[in-house]
Amino acid sequence: MRPIALTAALLGSVPAMAGDVSGGAKVFQAQCAICHRSTRDAAPSVGPDLYGVVGRKAGTLQGYSFSAAMKHSRLTWTPDELRRYLENPGKVVPGNKMPYAGEHDPAKLDALLSFLKTLK
Ligand code: HEC
Repeated sequence: MRPIALTAALLGSVPAMAGDVSGGAKVFQAQCAICHRSTRDAAPSVGPDLYGVVGRKAGTLQGYSFSAAMKHSRLTWTPDELRRYLENPGKVVPGNKMPYAGEHDPAKLDALLSFLKTLK
């Protein structure tokens, strides 16, 4: 096999990730679902319900007790802000109480964002 074909074969065996909703759902299950629900009007879990999070003002969901840092962050969860936050929560909202170190793989972040956009 020529090297280029071999590379293609290897890449073909890696699950498609970039921007892929089902890949994003898997990332969510693996990394977020332990603390967040994703259905409309779900009772708060450890973290706030993420249904409808895209476009929402940070720290405003009724019925969840946010940290002062999140309430006063003045962020709106556009896809770009979500991406920045999920890459490094402690840096983007210093003092917020989400115990999550951050996801640094751009492909996983793309997939996760695609999935979060479907929660509406
Ligand atoms: C171990 C628990 C935990 C994990 C894992 C976790 N979170 Fe959170 N998350 C929280 C908590 C707690 C808050 C509330 C932060 C605050 O009020 O300071 C939060 C807040 C958020 C917010 C802000 C919501 C709003 O309405 O302002 C978003 C967005 C978010 N998390 C997304 C995610 C995503 C996506 C993942 C997976 C990649 C994730 N979180 C993983 C606990 C967690």
